[in-house]
Amino acid sequence: WAEIGHLDRASVGRSVLVRGTAQAAYCGSKTKKVAFLELRQGMSTVQCVLAGSAQMALFALSLPKESVVFVEGAVALLDKPLRYTTVQEVEIQVRKLYCVSRAKPKLPISVEDAGRSAEEFAMAEANGVQLPRVGQDTRLNHPAINLRTPAVQAIFRIKHQIEHKFREYLSSRDFIGIHTPKLISGSSEGGAAVFKLEYKNGKTACLAQSPQLHKQMAICGGLRRVFEVGHIFRAEDSNTHRHLCEFVGMDAEMEIMRHYFEVCDIVDGFFVELFRHLNENCRTALEAVNRQYPFEPLKYLENTLRLSYEEGIQMLKEAGTEVEPMGDLNTEAERKLGQLVREKYDTDFFILYRYPLAARPFYTMPCYENPAYSNSFDVFLRGEEIISGAQRIHEPELLAKRVAEHGIDKSSIKSYLESFSYGTPPHGGFGIGLERVVKLFCGLDDIRMASLFPRDPQRLSP
Ligand code: 4AD
Repeated sequence: WAEIGHLDRASVGRSVLVRGTAQAAYCGSKTKKVAFLELRQGMSTVQCVLAGSAQMALFALSLPKESVVFVEGAVALLDKPLRYTTVQEVEIQVRKLYCVSRAKPKLPISVEDAGRSAEEFAMAEANGVQLPRVGQDTRLNHPAINLRTPAVQAIFRIKHQIEHKFREYLSSRDFIGIHTPKLISGSSEGGAAVFKLEYKNGKTACLAQSPQLHKQMAICGGLRRVFEVGHIFRAEDSNTHRHLCEFVGMDAEMEIMRHYFEVCDIVDGFFVELFRHLNENCRTALEAVNRQYPFEPLKYLENTLRLSYEEGIQMLKEAGTEVEPMGDLNTEAERKLGQLVREKYDTDFFILYRYPLAARPFYTMPCYENPAYSNSFDVFLRGEEIISGAQRIHEPELLAKRVAEHGIDKSSIKSYLESFSYGTPPHGGFGIGLERVVKLFCGLDDIRMASLFPRDPQRLSP
Protein backbone atom coordinates (compact mmCIF):
# COMPACT_ATOMS: atom_id res chain seq x y z
CA TRP A 1 0.00 0.00 0.00
CA ALA A 2 1.21 3.48 -0.67
CA GLU A 3 -0.04 6.93 0.21
CA ILE A 4 0.16 9.26 -2.77
CA GLY A 5 1.45 12.10 -0.59
CA HIS A 6 4.40 9.95 0.51
CA LEU A 7 5.66 9.19 -3.01
CA ASP A 8 8.91 10.88 -3.93
CA ARG A 9 12.25 10.21 -5.67
CA ALA A 10 13.11 7.66 -3.00
CA SER A 11 10.09 5.61 -4.10
CA VAL A 12 11.38 5.18 -7.68
CA GLY A 13 11.51 1.51 -8.64
CA ARG A 14 9.10 0.46 -5.89
CA SER A 15 6.06 -1.58 -6.74
CA VAL A 16 2.99 0.03 -5.16
CA LEU A 17 -0.70 -0.56 -4.68
CA VAL A 18 -2.67 2.66 -4.37
CA ARG A 19 -6.37 3.32 -3.89
CA GLY A 20 -7.53 6.72 -4.98
CA THR A 21 -10.07 8.76 -6.89
CA ALA A 22 -9.78 8.99 -10.66
CA GLN A 23 -10.18 12.71 -11.14
CA ALA A 24 -9.23 12.92 -14.81
CA ALA A 25 -8.21 10.62 -17.66
CA TYR A 26 -6.52 11.60 -20.92
CA CYS A 27 -5.75 9.80 -24.08
CA GLY A 28 -2.00 9.51 -24.56
CA SER A 29 -1.88 8.51 -28.23
CA LYS A 30 -4.05 8.68 -31.32
CA THR A 31 -4.58 4.94 -31.26
CA LYS A 32 -5.76 5.13 -27.60
CA LYS A 33 -3.16 2.58 -26.55
CA VAL A 34 -1.79 4.87 -23.88
CA ALA A 35 -3.81 6.73 -21.29
CA PHE A 36 -2.99 8.99 -18.36
CA LEU A 37 -4.96 8.91 -15.19
CA GLU A 38 -4.80 11.56 -12.50
CA LEU A 39 -5.29 9.90 -9.14
CA ARG A 40 -6.24 11.79 -5.96
CA GLN A 41 -6.11 10.98 -2.26
CA GLY A 42 -7.24 13.84 -0.04
CA MET A 43 -5.14 16.80 -1.16
CA SER A 44 -2.50 14.75 -2.99
CA THR A 45 -2.55 13.91 -6.68
CA VAL A 46 -0.26 11.85 -8.86
CA GLN A 47 -0.04 11.09 -12.56
CA CYS A 48 -0.50 7.44 -13.57
CA VAL A 49 0.53 6.12 -16.98
CA LEU A 50 -1.33 3.19 -18.56
CA ALA A 51 0.80 2.03 -21.45
CA GLY A 52 0.87 -1.74 -21.01
CA SER A 53 -2.41 -2.67 -22.59
CA ALA A 54 -4.82 -0.94 -24.97
CA GLN A 55 -7.71 -2.59 -23.16
CA MET A 56 -6.63 -1.11 -19.82
CA ALA A 57 -6.14 2.32 -21.40
CA LEU A 58 -9.64 2.17 -22.86
CA PHE A 59 -11.05 1.04 -19.52
CA ALA A 60 -9.39 4.03 -17.80
CA LEU A 61 -10.79 6.42 -20.40
CA SER A 62 -14.27 4.98 -19.94
CA LEU A 63 -14.34 5.43 -16.15
CA PRO A 64 -16.61 8.21 -14.91
CA LYS A 65 -14.64 10.98 -13.19
CA GLU A 66 -14.50 10.60 -9.39
CA SER A 67 -14.72 6.81 -9.46
CA VAL A 68 -12.59 5.12 -6.80
CA VAL A 69 -9.94 2.79 -8.25
CA PHE A 70 -7.03 0.59 -7.29
CA VAL A 71 -3.85 0.82 -9.30
CA GLU A 72 -0.91 -1.49 -9.06
CA GLY A 73 2.30 -0.41 -10.69
CA ALA A 74 5.85 0.80 -10.46
CA VAL A 75 6.98 4.23 -9.35
CA ALA A 76 9.11 5.95 -11.99
CA LEU A 77 10.57 9.41 -12.48
CA LEU A 78 7.95 11.68 -13.98
CA ASP A 79 8.47 11.87 -17.71
CA LYS A 80 5.97 14.30 -19.16
CA PRO A 81 3.54 15.95 -16.70
CA LEU A 82 0.23 16.54 -18.44
CA ARG A 83 -1.28 18.71 -15.77
CA TYR A 84 -0.46 20.05 -12.34
CA THR A 85 -0.23 17.26 -9.77
CA THR A 86 0.93 17.69 -6.18
CA VAL A 87 3.43 14.82 -6.56
CA GLN A 88 5.63 16.37 -9.18
CA GLU A 89 8.72 14.22 -9.28
CA VAL A 90 7.34 10.77 -9.93
CA GLU A 91 4.53 8.94 -11.69
CA ILE A 92 3.05 5.45 -11.40
CA GLN A 93 3.42 3.15 -14.39
CA VAL A 94 0.33 1.05 -14.03
CA ARG A 95 0.25 -2.70 -14.50
CA LYS A 96 -3.24 -3.33 -13.15
CA LEU A 97 -6.30 -1.16 -12.71
CA TYR A 98 -9.51 -2.07 -10.88
CA CYS A 99 -12.59 0.00 -10.28
CA VAL A 100 -13.71 -0.13 -6.63
CA SER A 101 -16.66 2.24 -6.74
CA ARG A 102 -18.08 3.74 -9.88
CA ALA A 103 -19.27 7.36 -9.72
CA LYS A 104 -22.41 8.48 -11.52
CA PRO A 105 -21.51 9.60 -15.04
CA LYS A 106 -22.93 13.07 -14.38
CA LEU A 107 -22.30 14.76 -11.03
CA PRO A 108 -24.38 17.71 -9.77
CA ILE A 109 -21.21 19.83 -9.74
CA SER A 110 -17.90 19.08 -11.31
CA VAL A 111 -15.05 18.89 -8.79
CA GLU A 112 -12.88 20.62 -11.36
CA ASP A 113 -15.26 23.60 -11.60
CA ALA A 114 -15.69 23.75 -7.82
CA GLY A 115 -11.94 23.75 -7.25
CA ARG A 116 -10.65 26.14 -9.89
CA SER A 117 -7.94 28.53 -8.81
CA ALA A 118 -8.23 32.30 -8.94
CA GLU A 119 -5.43 32.24 -11.54
CA GLU A 120 -7.41 29.91 -13.84
CA PHE A 121 -10.36 32.29 -13.70
CA ALA A 122 -8.14 35.28 -14.38
CA MET A 123 -6.46 33.59 -17.36
CA ALA A 124 -9.76 32.45 -18.84
CA GLU A 125 -11.21 35.92 -18.47
CA ALA A 126 -8.18 37.46 -20.14
CA ASN A 127 -8.85 35.12 -23.08
CA GLY A 128 -12.52 36.04 -23.16
CA VAL A 129 -13.63 32.65 -21.79
CA GLN A 130 -16.30 32.50 -19.13
CA LEU A 131 -15.63 29.55 -16.80
CA PRO A 132 -18.60 28.29 -14.76
CA ARG A 133 -18.66 29.46 -11.15
CA VAL A 134 -20.14 27.21 -8.49
CA GLY A 135 -22.30 29.16 -6.04
CA GLN A 136 -22.15 28.80 -2.28
CA ASP A 137 -25.58 27.19 -1.91
CA THR A 138 -24.86 24.62 -4.61
CA ARG A 139 -21.61 23.74 -2.87
CA LEU A 140 -23.25 23.41 0.53
CA ASN A 141 -26.04 21.28 -0.91
CA HIS A 142 -23.46 18.78 -2.21
CA PRO A 143 -20.82 18.44 0.54
CA ALA A 144 -19.65 15.03 -0.67
CA ILE A 145 -18.40 16.76 -3.80
CA ASN A 146 -17.52 20.20 -2.49
CA LEU A 147 -15.26 18.67 0.17
CA ARG A 148 -13.12 17.04 -2.50
CA THR A 149 -11.72 20.33 -3.75
CA PRO A 150 -8.21 21.22 -2.52
CA ALA A 151 -9.14 24.51 -0.83
CA VAL A 152 -12.00 22.96 1.12
CA GLN A 153 -9.87 19.98 2.14
CA ALA A 154 -7.26 22.48 3.30
CA ILE A 155 -9.70 24.60 5.30
CA PHE A 156 -10.76 21.62 7.41
CA ARG A 157 -7.20 20.52 7.94
CA ILE A 158 -6.38 24.02 9.21
CA LYS A 159 -9.49 23.97 11.40
CA HIS A 160 -8.36 20.68 12.91
CA GLN A 161 -4.92 22.12 13.66
CA ILE A 162 -6.43 25.11 15.47
CA GLU A 163 -8.57 22.90 17.69
CA HIS A 164 -5.70 20.46 18.26
CA LYS A 165 -3.32 23.28 19.25
CA PHE A 166 -5.91 24.78 21.59
CA ARG A 167 -6.24 21.50 23.49
CA GLU A 168 -2.48 21.02 23.50
CA TYR A 169 -1.65 24.56 24.65
CA LEU A 170 -4.16 24.58 27.50
CA SER A 171 -3.45 21.01 28.62
CA SER A 172 0.24 21.87 28.88
CA ARG A 173 -0.71 24.75 31.20
CA ASP A 174 -2.64 22.60 33.66
CA PHE A 175 -6.10 23.20 32.22
CA ILE A 176 -8.32 20.15 32.12
CA GLY A 177 -10.86 19.44 29.40
CA ILE A 178 -14.47 19.29 30.57
CA HIS A 179 -17.86 18.70 28.94
CA THR A 180 -20.77 20.82 30.04
CA PRO A 181 -24.38 19.98 29.16
CA LYS A 182 -25.88 21.26 25.94
CA LEU A 183 -29.43 20.59 27.10
CA ILE A 184 -30.05 23.07 29.86
CA SER A 185 -33.05 24.45 31.69
CA GLY A 186 -32.67 28.14 30.83
CA SER A 187 -30.64 30.71 28.92
CA SER A 188 -26.88 30.60 29.48
CA GLU A 189 -25.82 33.76 27.71
CA GLY A 190 -27.89 36.91 28.18
CA GLY A 191 -28.25 38.83 24.93
CA ALA A 192 -28.03 35.79 22.63
CA ALA A 193 -31.23 34.22 21.31
CA VAL A 194 -31.98 30.70 22.47
CA PHE A 195 -33.39 27.54 20.85
CA LYS A 196 -36.12 25.95 22.96
CA LEU A 197 -37.28 22.39 22.69
CA GLU A 198 -39.61 19.95 24.32
CA TYR A 199 -37.91 17.96 27.06
CA LYS A 200 -39.34 15.11 29.16
CA ASN A 201 -42.16 15.36 31.71
CA GLY A 202 -43.62 18.53 30.24
CA LYS A 203 -40.39 20.49 30.71
CA THR A 204 -38.91 22.88 28.20
CA ALA A 205 -35.17 22.70 27.56
CA CYS A 206 -32.79 25.21 25.97
CA LEU A 207 -29.81 24.42 23.79
CA ALA A 208 -26.77 25.95 25.49
CA GLN A 209 -25.70 29.27 23.94
CA SER A 210 -22.37 28.86 25.74
CA PRO A 211 -20.80 26.75 28.51
CA GLN A 212 -20.47 29.98 30.52
CA LEU A 213 -22.43 29.16 33.68
CA HIS A 214 -21.31 25.56 33.94
CA LYS A 215 -17.63 26.30 33.33
CA GLN A 216 -17.77 28.83 36.16
CA MET A 217 -19.47 26.24 38.37
CA ALA A 218 -16.54 23.93 37.64
CA ILE A 219 -14.25 26.67 38.99
CA CYS A 220 -16.51 27.06 42.04
CA GLY A 221 -16.02 23.32 42.50
CA GLY A 222 -12.24 23.72 42.68
CA LEU A 223 -11.16 22.48 39.24
CA ARG A 224 -9.02 25.66 39.00
CA ARG A 225 -8.40 25.72 35.22
CA VAL A 226 -10.80 24.22 32.70
CA PHE A 227 -11.44 24.31 28.97
CA GLU A 228 -14.04 22.94 26.62
CA VAL A 229 -14.31 22.51 22.89
CA GLY A 230 -17.99 22.07 22.22
CA HIS A 231 -21.03 22.95 20.18
CA ILE A 232 -22.77 26.23 20.82
CA PHE A 233 -26.29 27.05 19.70
CA ARG A 234 -27.56 30.54 18.98
CA ALA A 235 -31.00 31.20 17.54
CA GLU A 236 -29.48 34.08 15.57
CA ASP A 237 -31.77 35.82 13.17
CA SER A 238 -28.85 37.50 11.52
CA ASN A 239 -28.08 36.29 8.02
CA THR A 240 -24.52 37.55 7.94
CA HIS A 241 -21.15 36.35 6.75
CA ARG A 242 -20.07 35.77 10.39
CA HIS A 243 -23.00 34.26 12.28
CA LEU A 244 -24.04 30.63 12.48
CA CYS A 245 -26.85 29.05 14.49
CA GLU A 246 -24.51 26.25 15.55
CA PHE A 247 -20.78 26.72 15.89
CA VAL A 248 -17.82 25.32 17.79
CA GLY A 249 -16.76 27.23 20.87
CA MET A 250 -13.31 26.89 22.41
CA ASP A 251 -13.85 28.11 25.95
CA ALA A 252 -11.60 28.39 28.97
CA GLU A 253 -12.06 29.46 32.57
CA MET A 254 -9.32 29.90 35.19
CA GLU A 255 -8.58 31.17 38.63
CA ILE A 256 -6.95 34.62 38.67
CA MET A 257 -4.30 35.58 41.20
CA ARG A 258 -3.94 39.34 40.68
CA HIS A 259 -5.42 40.71 37.46
CA TYR A 260 -7.63 39.60 34.60
CA PHE A 261 -4.71 40.22 32.22
CA GLU A 262 -3.60 36.73 33.33
CA VAL A 263 -6.48 35.53 31.13
CA CYS A 264 -5.29 37.76 28.26
CA ASP A 265 -1.80 36.23 28.70
CA ILE A 266 -3.24 32.79 27.98
CA VAL A 267 -5.14 34.12 24.96
CA ASP A 268 -2.24 35.89 23.32
CA GLY A 269 0.29 33.22 24.26
CA PHE A 270 -1.91 30.67 22.54
CA PHE A 271 -2.55 32.72 19.42
CA VAL A 272 1.04 33.77 18.82
CA GLU A 273 2.05 30.10 19.09
CA LEU A 274 -0.87 29.06 16.89
CA PHE A 275 -0.09 31.56 14.11
CA ARG A 276 3.53 30.45 14.08
CA HIS A 277 2.49 26.80 13.97
CA LEU A 278 0.03 27.32 11.12
CA ASN A 279 2.49 29.34 9.06
CA GLU A 280 5.29 26.84 9.58
CA ASN A 281 3.45 23.53 9.49
CA CYS A 282 0.36 24.06 7.35
CA ARG A 283 2.05 25.58 4.32
CA THR A 284 0.56 23.18 1.79
CA ALA A 285 -2.94 23.73 3.14
CA LEU A 286 -2.52 27.50 3.23
CA GLU A 287 -1.23 27.51 -0.34
CA ALA A 288 -4.22 25.44 -1.45
CA VAL A 289 -6.62 27.95 0.12
CA ASN A 290 -4.65 30.82 -1.32
CA ARG A 291 -4.75 29.40 -4.85
CA GLN A 292 -8.54 29.41 -4.85
CA TYR A 293 -9.27 32.24 -2.42
CA PRO A 294 -6.26 34.56 -2.43
CA PHE A 295 -5.62 36.31 0.87
CA GLU A 296 -2.96 38.47 2.42
CA PRO A 297 -0.82 36.78 5.09
CA LEU A 298 -1.88 37.73 8.58
CA LYS A 299 0.17 40.36 10.37
CA TYR A 300 0.71 39.86 14.07
CA LEU A 301 3.15 40.98 16.74
CA GLU A 302 5.17 38.68 19.01
CA ASN A 303 3.89 40.86 21.89
CA THR A 304 0.21 41.20 21.16
CA LEU A 305 -1.07 44.75 21.15
CA ARG A 306 -3.45 45.54 24.04
CA LEU A 307 -5.50 48.63 23.52
CA SER A 308 -8.03 50.00 25.99
CA TYR A 309 -11.58 50.52 24.79
CA GLU A 310 -11.17 54.27 25.45
CA GLU A 311 -8.04 54.40 23.29
CA GLY A 312 -9.93 52.53 20.57
CA ILE A 313 -12.82 54.99 20.72
CA GLN A 314 -10.35 57.87 20.56
CA MET A 315 -8.71 56.43 17.42
CA LEU A 316 -12.11 56.03 15.79
CA LYS A 317 -13.11 59.57 16.77
CA GLU A 318 -9.93 61.04 15.31
CA ALA A 319 -10.65 59.16 12.07
CA GLY A 320 -14.14 60.68 11.94
CA THR A 321 -16.14 57.63 13.09
CA GLU A 322 -18.53 58.54 15.87
CA VAL A 323 -19.19 55.81 18.41
CA GLU A 324 -21.35 55.75 21.52
CA PRO A 325 -18.56 55.96 24.19
CA MET A 326 -20.39 53.82 26.76
CA GLY A 327 -21.99 51.40 24.31
CA ASP A 328 -20.59 48.57 22.21
CA LEU A 329 -18.84 48.73 18.83
CA ASN A 330 -20.95 47.81 15.83
CA THR A 331 -19.59 45.71 12.97
CA GLU A 332 -18.63 48.79 10.94
CA ALA A 333 -16.76 50.41 13.83
CA GLU A 334 -14.94 47.14 14.56
CA ARG A 335 -13.81 46.88 10.96
CA LYS A 336 -12.71 50.50 10.90
CA LEU A 337 -10.76 50.06 14.14
CA GLY A 338 -9.09 46.96 12.68
CA GLN A 339 -7.98 49.04 9.70
CA LEU A 340 -6.69 51.91 11.87
CA VAL A 341 -4.78 49.51 14.13
CA ARG A 342 -3.22 47.85 11.10
CA GLU A 343 -2.06 51.20 9.75
CA LYS A 344 -0.70 52.42 13.08
CA TYR A 345 0.65 49.23 14.67
CA ASP A 346 1.13 46.89 11.71
CA THR A 347 -0.96 44.07 13.17
CA ASP A 348 -4.23 42.30 12.33
CA PHE A 349 -4.51 40.79 15.79
CA PHE A 350 -5.11 42.75 18.98
CA ILE A 351 -6.92 42.80 22.30
CA LEU A 352 -9.34 45.58 23.20
CA TYR A 353 -9.88 45.70 26.97
CA ARG A 354 -11.92 47.55 29.61
CA TYR A 355 -15.29 47.62 27.86
CA PRO A 356 -18.13 49.69 29.30
CA LEU A 357 -19.99 47.53 31.83
CA ALA A 358 -23.30 48.25 30.10
CA ALA A 359 -22.07 46.42 26.97
CA ARG A 360 -21.27 43.19 28.85
CA PRO A 361 -23.27 40.27 30.30
CA PHE A 362 -24.43 40.29 33.95
CA TYR A 363 -21.64 37.99 35.18
CA THR A 364 -18.86 40.42 34.14
CA MET A 365 -16.77 41.98 36.91
CA PRO A 366 -16.97 45.80 37.02
CA CYS A 367 -13.66 47.69 37.19
CA TYR A 368 -12.77 48.32 40.83
CA GLU A 369 -11.58 51.88 40.15
CA ASN A 370 -14.48 52.84 37.85
CA PRO A 371 -17.54 50.57 37.84
CA ALA A 372 -18.88 52.13 34.65
CA TYR A 373 -16.22 49.98 32.95
CA SER A 374 -15.55 46.27 33.26
CA ASN A 375 -12.64 43.87 33.58
CA SER A 376 -13.35 42.49 30.15
CA PHE A 377 -11.90 42.24 26.67
CA ASP A 378 -12.60 41.28 23.08
CA VAL A 379 -10.01 40.03 20.62
CA PHE A 380 -9.96 41.04 16.97
CA LEU A 381 -8.58 39.35 13.89
CA ARG A 382 -8.63 41.30 10.60
CA GLY A 383 -11.18 43.71 12.10
CA GLU A 384 -13.67 41.11 13.36
CA GLU A 385 -14.30 39.82 16.87
CA ILE A 386 -13.13 36.26 17.46
CA ILE A 387 -13.11 36.13 21.26
CA SER A 388 -14.79 37.71 24.21
CA GLY A 389 -13.51 37.29 27.72
CA ALA A 390 -13.59 38.79 31.19
CA GLN A 391 -13.12 38.45 34.88
CA ARG A 392 -16.35 37.14 36.42
CA ILE A 393 -18.11 38.27 39.55
CA HIS A 394 -17.30 35.81 42.33
CA GLU A 395 -18.96 37.73 45.19
CA PRO A 396 -22.50 36.44 45.72
CA GLU A 397 -23.98 39.81 46.82
CA LEU A 398 -22.63 41.69 43.82
CA LEU A 399 -23.73 38.87 41.52
CA ALA A 400 -27.27 38.95 42.96
CA LYS A 401 -27.35 42.72 42.43
CA ARG A 402 -26.26 42.44 38.78
CA VAL A 403 -28.78 39.66 38.12
CA ALA A 404 -31.53 41.93 39.46
CA GLU A 405 -30.29 44.92 37.41
CA HIS A 406 -30.44 42.78 34.26
CA GLY A 407 -34.01 41.71 35.10
CA ILE A 408 -33.00 38.02 35.14
CA ASP A 409 -35.28 35.61 37.01
CA LYS A 410 -32.91 34.31 39.69
CA SER A 411 -34.86 31.08 40.10
CA SER A 412 -33.79 30.16 36.54
CA ILE A 413 -30.09 30.14 37.58
CA LYS A 414 -30.54 29.06 41.18
CA SER A 415 -27.79 26.46 41.38
CA TYR A 416 -25.36 28.72 39.50
CA LEU A 417 -25.94 31.52 42.02
CA GLU A 418 -25.77 29.13 44.94
CA SER A 419 -22.34 27.87 43.79
CA PHE A 420 -20.81 31.22 44.78
CA SER A 421 -21.94 30.99 48.40
CA TYR A 422 -19.41 28.36 49.44
CA GLY A 423 -16.24 30.33 48.81
CA THR A 424 -15.10 30.99 45.24
CA PRO A 425 -11.71 32.21 44.01
CA PRO A 426 -11.54 35.21 41.68
CA HIS A 427 -11.65 33.85 38.13
CA GLY A 428 -12.05 34.74 34.50
CA GLY A 429 -12.17 33.17 31.09
CA PHE A 430 -12.93 33.53 27.44
CA GLY A 431 -14.78 32.01 24.51
CA ILE A 432 -13.33 31.66 21.01
CA GLY A 433 -15.51 31.10 17.95
CA LEU A 434 -13.57 28.41 16.06
CA GLU A 435 -15.19 29.01 12.65
CA ARG A 436 -14.51 32.74 12.96
CA VAL A 437 -10.82 32.06 13.58
CA VAL A 438 -10.66 29.77 10.52
CA LYS A 439 -12.56 32.26 8.37
CA LEU A 440 -10.40 35.21 9.35
CA PHE A 441 -7.04 33.47 9.46
CA CYS A 442 -7.66 32.18 5.92
CA GLY A 443 -9.20 35.48 4.80
CA LEU A 444 -12.45 33.77 3.70
CA ASP A 445 -15.54 35.79 2.85
CA ASP A 446 -18.11 33.70 4.63
CA ILE A 447 -18.14 31.74 7.91
CA ARG A 448 -20.15 28.96 6.21
CA MET A 449 -16.97 28.00 4.37
CA ALA A 450 -15.42 27.12 7.74
CA SER A 451 -18.22 24.78 8.80
CA LEU A 452 -18.60 21.27 7.34
CA PHE A 453 -22.39 21.34 7.59
CA PRO A 454 -23.34 24.92 8.42
CA ARG A 455 -26.54 25.80 10.26
CA ASP A 456 -27.97 29.24 9.67
CA PRO A 457 -31.52 30.64 9.77
CA GLN A 458 -32.17 29.21 6.28
CA ARG A 459 -30.15 26.02 6.41
CA LEU A 460 -30.86 22.93 8.53
CA SER A 461 -29.53 20.29 6.15
CA PRO A 462 -27.64 18.37 4.91
O1 4AD B 1 -19.07 36.88 22.56
P1 4AD B 1 -19.74 35.60 22.95
O2 4AD B 1 -21.21 35.58 22.89
O3 4AD B 1 -19.22 35.30 24.42
C1 4AD B 1 -19.56 34.23 25.17
O4 4AD B 1 -20.19 33.27 24.80
C2 4AD B 1 -18.95 34.28 26.52
N1 4AD B 1 -19.59 33.31 27.40
C3 4AD B 1 -17.50 33.95 26.38
C4 4AD B 1 -16.73 34.23 27.58
O5 4AD B 1 -16.09 33.33 28.11
N2 4AD B 1 -16.73 35.47 27.99
O6 4AD B 1 -19.17 34.42 22.07
C5 4AD B 1 -17.78 34.09 22.07
C6 4AD B 1 -17.28 34.00 20.64
C7 4AD B 1 -17.38 35.30 19.86
O7 4AD B 1 -16.31 36.14 20.09
C8 4AD B 1 -17.40 34.78 18.43
O8 4AD B 1 -16.09 34.48 17.99
C9 4AD B 1 -18.16 33.49 18.56
O9 4AD B 1 -18.08 33.08 19.91
N3 4AD B 1 -19.57 33.65 18.17
C10 4AD B 1 -20.10 33.16 17.03
N4 4AD B 1 -19.55 32.46 16.02
C11 4AD B 1 -20.36 32.09 15.00
N5 4AD B 1 -21.68 32.36 14.97
C12 4AD B 1 -22.28 33.04 15.96
N6 4AD B 1 -23.56 33.26 15.93
C13 4AD B 1 -21.48 33.48 17.06
N7 4AD B 1 -21.73 34.15 18.21
C14 4AD B 1 -20.56 34.24 18.87
